[in-house]
Amino acid sequence: MSKSDSDTDTSTDSSCGASTDGETSETEASTGSACGASTTEADSNETSACGASSSTESTGECGASSDDSDEEEVGATVKDFDADPGTLVAVGLGPGQPDGMTRRAQTALAEAEHLVGYTTYIDLIPDDITETAEDIYSTPMCGEVSRTEEAIDRALAGNHVAIVGSGDPNVYALGGLALEILESKGGTASMVDFEVVPGVPAAQSCAARLGAPLVNDTVSISLSDHLTPMPDIESRLHAAAKEGFTITIYNPWSRKRRENFQKCCEILTAHRDPETPVGIVHGAGREDEEVEIVELRELEDLGETDLIDMTTTILVGTEDTYVWDDRMVTPRGYETKYDY
Ligand SMILES: C[S@@+](CC[C@H](N)C(=O)[O-])C[C@H]1O[C@@H](n2cnc3c(N)ncnc32)[C@H](O)[C@@H]1O
Repeated sequence: MSKSDSDTDTSTDSSCGASTDGETSETEASTGSACGASTTEADSNETSACGASSSTESTGECGASSDDSDEEEVGATVKDFDADPGTLVAVGLGPGQPDGMTRRAQTALAEAEHLVGYTTYIDLIPDDITETAEDIYSTPMCGEVSRTEEAIDRALAGNHVAIVGSGDPNVYALGGLALEILESKGGTASMVDFEVVPGVPAAQSCAARLGAPLVNDTVSISLSDHLTPMPDIESRLHAAAKEGFTITIYNPWSRKRRENFQKCCEILTAHRDPETPVGIVHGAGREDEEVEIVELRELEDLGETDLIDMTTTILVGTEDTYVWDDRMVTPRGYETKYDY
């Protein structure tokens, strides 16, 4: 179905200009934050009793600050907290389904008193874990800084907190932001026993659906120009495509990024054969999963279909990648040394 035919375009754009991280804009019952209070009932206001800024209070199209600004200020510093600090763990949920989550991630979530995350990610956590959490703080898209700060403030106030995200916390995610904000508050990672629990990144979940496209040197590129200017993204794409890496494209398409996607296709076709195999995986491990292997020449037009949005990852093969029995195969080079 083409995007214009669709009533429910999941590639939502953020009115605040922020990345929607591939998730659907949702109307949600947001929770009040009270750093230790169990307040998960519906409440349209988000307030933090931790001294955190609450810039997700007013809801724009994406549920973030409606002042059209991406700027979020960090509020309380470590000096504002009297309690002995608790702990903070950044947990990667993997692609979406509970059995795609590592045992370590499930344990970390079960051990956390407070779960903090973007609503769609919180919804991916199994019910038996969310039901036993003392408190859940979920916010719609945008507000990454205030959400991360909320998690930190709750930890500084003495709670055991897990901040969750899809895939892995080190792949276009909040792992680094948590450390940066902790530092800006005058804290340290060891003060809250900061730990990262890895999850299966989308590139790997999607590669698994396609066969074996990523077994050699690979470059990941995000087309989100929210934090990286588009000219920089373009030059990275040129370099990756020219050097012959397998390329994994994250955040490929949203209405506001249509041109970024078109530019990306142009760059790829400037360096690669139009018949280069390209794997497209939408919603890996989720109910609406879709998988297609196409040729590079077809990619740009597919940007106008529901297959490619912000829950899609695209894997562009190398000049050696081929399709065999509906699977993408990128030779690792064994064939140059061994007979088989
Ligand atoms: C902000 S990045 C987060 C990446 C995540 N931390 C990871 O390790 O996969 C969001 C992008 O990841 C990709 N993505 C996340 N979950 C996905 C899924 N289940 N299927 C396909 N792509 C996914 C999409 O490209 C999406 O736009």
